[in-house]
Amino acid sequence: MTGGGRSYDQARWSTDEHYEPLLSEKDSREVDVETPLPDELTRDSLELPSLSEPELARHYTRLSQMNYGVESGPFPLGSCTMKYNPKFTEDLAALPDAGVHPDRPDETIQGTLGVYAQLSEYLGQIGGMDAVTLQPPAGAAGEYAGVLIAKAYHEHNDDERSEIIIPDSAHGTNFASAALAGFDVVELPSGDDGRVDLDALDAAISEETALLMLTNPNTLGLFERDIEEIATMVHDAGGLLYYDGANLNALLGQARPGDMGFDIMHYNVHKTFATPHGGGGPGAGPVGVVEKLAPFLPSPQVRETNGGYEQYEPEHTIGKVHGFRGNWLVLIKACAYISRLGDEGLADASAKAVLNANYLAEQIDYEVPFGPFHHEFVASAGEQDAADVAKRMLDYGVHPPTTKWPEIVSEALMTEPTEIEAKRGLDHLARAFNAVADEDEETIEAAPQRTSARRIDQVSAARNPRLSWQALADQDD
Ligand SMILES: Cc1ncc(COP(=O)(O)O)c(C=O)c1O
Repeated sequence: MTGGGRSYDQARWSTDEHYEPLLSEKDSREVDVETPLPDELTRDSLELPSLSEPELARHYTRLSQMNYGVESGPFPLGSCTMKYNPKFTEDLAALPDAGVHPDRPDETIQGTLGVYAQLSEYLGQIGGMDAVTLQPPAGAAGEYAGVLIAKAYHEHNDDERSEIIIPDSAHGTNFASAALAGFDVVELPSGDDGRVDLDALDAAISEETALLMLTNPNTLGLFERDIEEIATMVHDAGGLLYYDGANLNALLGQARPGDMGFDIMHYNVHKTFATPHGGGGPGAGPVGVVEKLAPFLPSPQVRETNGGYEQYEPEHTIGKVHGFRGNWLVLIKACAYISRLGDEGLADASAKAVLNANYLAEQIDYEVPFGPFHHEFVASAGEQDAADVAKRMLDYGVHPPTTKWPEIVSEALMTEPTEIEAKRGLDHLARAFNAVADEDEETIEAAPQRTSARRIDQVSAARNPRLSWQALADQDD
């Protein structure tokens, strides 16, 4: 390759279409199925792939080789934070005792409830929160639960409020969570320095303000310097303060949202405590609250009693936001990660995440307009199209940054290497950035050239998703 980037070619397995056939396309046979179920619940015939174990193993190995993940190389997807998931946490979650049925009586799952209580305590200490629910299944689901808690709190005090204030740099899920819970969203324009503009906030706050949702460090990686003043302004107006904890990886062991005046927060355990993300769903997004909001937490909660543990329903609970106590096997992994690292290890991970982001920003030729930043930075692709830059970076064997967001930076390249990258990985990333920065429009518009799939039609894929083989087959008919 040109420009000092490292040579890279992704596997392609089929000669014609550059894709690995589906199992059903390789070999499919009618299978007779004997079943005790009534006829009206069964189908007449069933076609199933019929392959040997080695064929199956090769199929999945090929698919993995045509994919790119955090175990393939650097993955600096800003804000989405792809951290390596250590294998020891997988081992713990795979222990036979981990797989208890969630509906078993409390006295038979004391160990499980003990881990719940332990993780809740860890998270409370880390965030400076008094009580924690582990139930929500993702960061966005945690936001929604947090917004419902704020709503229930205000309603309980006969103080119904209709508005939630959210800075324009916030993640889209903040706006969605507020709207889904029935609030009007007041969008707060960022100041010239990329942070909350206190005059704009003053103008936005009113007696209708139920909540201010803030991400800190924000999505530009900038720490909100006026946080104490912001908290006072919101609280004086009778509102609550919500911390989007997606960027907590920058602050572990350095600062706590509870100490800054936040009343509610969610933790993105995949971004901070190295658990699998699960496509926004089967993950975990615990929520912490200050004492006065604890009675509104989802049910059930777990508490210590007579040397053991029991589940209970908080007095003014908002109800359930997920089945049982949340995604247990993901939560075990978060608990194991926190226990293994301890206070010092967590603080060290944060410090390295910040150091890595700052080192990388120094190495790349693209301009980084805002700073000083923490765990991530937003560079501008300048005259180049950020989406083209991203596609071209794939040809250099790295996953690209998040592009075109936040919109405060034109042609944004939002970059978060995380603490997992050694200097070698950061230098590899920098070479890829700088190689693309030197290239002409024609080259980057034609990218990617060296991946298993070329440029896909992202708009159609998002607007008209066909998520099953059957849906694709129907389309071809
Ligand atoms: C700032 C911010 N808030 C909220 C979320 C939503 O979290 P999740 O993807 O776990 O639903 C994200 C996504 O990673 C995020 O970056």
